[in-house]
This record gives sequence, C-alpha cells and structure tokens, in this order.
Amino acid sequence: MNFKSKLPNVGRHIFSHMTALANEYHAVNLSQGFPDFDPDPDLLKFVGEALSKNTNQYAPMPGLPQLRMQIAAKMKSGYDLDIDWENEITIGTGATEMIFAAIAATVWPGDEVILVEPCYDCYRPAVESVGGKAVVYKMKAPEFRIDWKAIRELVSPKTRMICLCTPNNPTGKVLDQYDMGQLMAITAGTDILLMCDEVYQYMTFGGRQHLSPLQFPGLRERTFAAFSFGKTYHVTGWKVGYCVAPAALTAELRKVHQNMTYCTSHPFQHAIAHYMEKSDSHLQLAAFFERKRDLFLEALGQTKFNVLDCDGGYFLLLDYAEISDENDFDFCVRLIKEFGIAAIPVSHLYSDLHDDRLIRICFAKKDETLLEAARRLKAV
Ligand SMILES: Cc1ncc(COP(=O)(O)O)c(C=O)c1O
Repeated sequence: MNFKSKLPNVGRHIFSHMTALANEYHAVNLSQGFPDFDPDPDLLKFVGEALSKNTNQYAPMPGLPQLRMQIAAKMKSGYDLDIDWENEITIGTGATEMIFAAIAATVWPGDEVILVEPCYDCYRPAVESVGGKAVVYKMKAPEFRIDWKAIRELVSPKTRMICLCTPNNPTGKVLDQYDMGQLMAITAGTDILLMCDEVYQYMTFGGRQHLSPLQFPGLRERTFAAFSFGKTYHVTGWKVGYCVAPAALTAELRKVHQNMTYCTSHPFQHAIAHYMEKSDSHLQLAAFFERKRDLFLEALGQTKFNVLDCDGGYFLLLDYAEISDENDFDFCVRLIKEFGIAAIPVSHLYSDLHDDRLIRICFAKKDETLLEAARRLKAV
C-alpha cells in the first residue's frame, strides 16, 4: 500500500516521551501539565451520584444544557459577558477537541494560520491536517512579548486565523489591554478569525486580570475561545472542556464536533454542572497557584537556574545557560537520569526546535513534591 502521511512532522509527543522516561527512572515528574493532588471530594461525590442518575447514555451533542447554563452564568459574573448558552457554548472532549474543531471547521486548504511560538503543540497539527499553512511568529526570550508589528507583517490575504494562548503555556505571560488593542487594529476590516486558548483563565498572578478577546468589540465576533475543566478543577484525565464562540462560528464548530466525537462524557458533565452550581472554588485558583509558585521560587533561589517571570498559568521556565551548553532535550534527559527530575525542553514547543537553553516545569504539584524537586535541582 502506498499512502502519504498528512502529518509527516508529528513524532512522538514530547510530553509522553518525558513522562515515560520519568516513570522509568522514578523521577519527580514536573513535565506534563497536571496536578499530583486530588480534586475537591465534592466533585468526585457528584460523579458517583451522576452515574446512578441516568447519565450512562449519550449526552446531547452540544453539551448538557445545565452545564452550558452554568458556564454562561460564570461568563457573566466573571467577565460581564452575555453569552447565549444554547447557541454560543459547546462542550467538548477537552479544550484540545474544541481547538481542533474550531480550526477544522474554518480553515480551508491553502489558508494561512498565524501561530505565536513557543506554544502548546496541538495547534499546528490541526492546521496542517486540514491543508492549512502554519505561519510562525517566534516570541523572544526572556520577555516573550508579542511584537504586533511583526504579526502585522505576517498577515496576508490568505490569513484565515490567528492562534493565541493567554495565560500562556509555556511562557507564563498574560495578554493585556495593549495586546487586545493591537489585535483589534490588526483584524479590523478583515475576515481573520481568532482561536484563543484560555485554559488557564483563572490562574493570573500579582493582581493581573485575565482578558479574553470575547470581551472586546471587533474581536468577539471573530473569536473561538477554548477552556478546560481539566485545568480549572484539577481533573485533566476527565477531558471535558468547552468553546465559546458567536452563534455562526459555533454552528460550524459543532458540525466537526458532531462528527468527531458527537458528544462528551455524560456523567462528568453532570457532575461538573452540579459542582458549579454549589461551588465558587475557581475564584481561589489564582491565590492557590500563586502561593505554590512563590514557594517553589523561593526554594529554587538556592539553585543555579535562572527563573523567568511567570504572570499566569502553572508553568515556570528555567534558564540553565549557566549550568550547561547541552541542547535542551539532552539536558532534560540527563536531568531525569542523573537527578531524578522531569521537565520539558522548550525547543519542542517551537516548530523549528529553536533552543534558548530553557526548560519548562509544572508547579501544579503538592508542596512536598515541589520542595523535593527543588532539593534535587540544587544538586544540578
Ligand atoms: C495551553 C493548553 N491548551 C490546551 C490544553 C489541553 O486541555 P484539555 O486537557 O482540556 O484538552 C493544555 C493542556 O496542557 C494546555 O496547556
């Protein structure tokens, strides 16, 4: 048989690779973005209850109405946004599915999609699998600010979409009013769509506020915003996320969702809706993770790593240029094998493997895990 791969450049996932190696060497795994602590017991209890409440068959294709209503209520209380739960909110199998569906539903073969790198690694394969062309803008370390003039220069008549992530994985940067203003200016009068990955929406530090393009006139009508209950409620394994987009875009996104997964786990949706009704735990997330970041930062102060500023999300970037000349992949492998710490080489979040001698570590971990990790990093 003769067939050509549509994604010849997609190899083994760097997160799976590092996690497998971490398991083999019994390393402290700070590579993948998931907590090592339990979710709220109430949430778990609600899953058990949901299972005995007739939730064992398919959920409605766009998501459970009561869950979408809860999301709309939180969009109102958190961002003062009036979102039509029936026509503008879709529940999907994690933010990942919603991001894929947004791209697959709107990007035509030959269309260009601007990616801001380093970035989470599911955007480019989604673009390329539907025949789109990724046009990459690289942010510069250590500031990792977006130079909007450079983005403007990348815009062409073929630009269909710009993909953004705020708070950013892996840089920890948060888009502000200035960024939104620039985005408004660049997209005004064009048909350019936005895919804004906002899975870390509730994790912003130092009093910073999360801003979504959904809040800005001129941006809202062109935005697919992707969110993740996995991140908000410490249940990444459940893979439940959602997309908020205007009705016309949502209708297109659902055509892909309907034919890719049809619907998302019914009992988990039920439990999350129940939990959202009773709990405002998401409001404590920023303080919860800011304290963890600070605890870890203080412990890392005694290492030879230079830690970059982190304004949001749950990752820190560590610069190891003073420690080694190795490329970041080799350095990460050695960290696991010799020091028992797993991290992500940031070059793997760039299409061209651009290497600034940076590694990414996740601080969504128990305090004792972070302190043990810092102890091991001191030896490096
Ligand atoms: C920036 C970003 N977007 C999306 C995802 C995936 O979210 P989900 O697990 O809800 O698919 C992640 C997970 O690490 C992420 O970091």
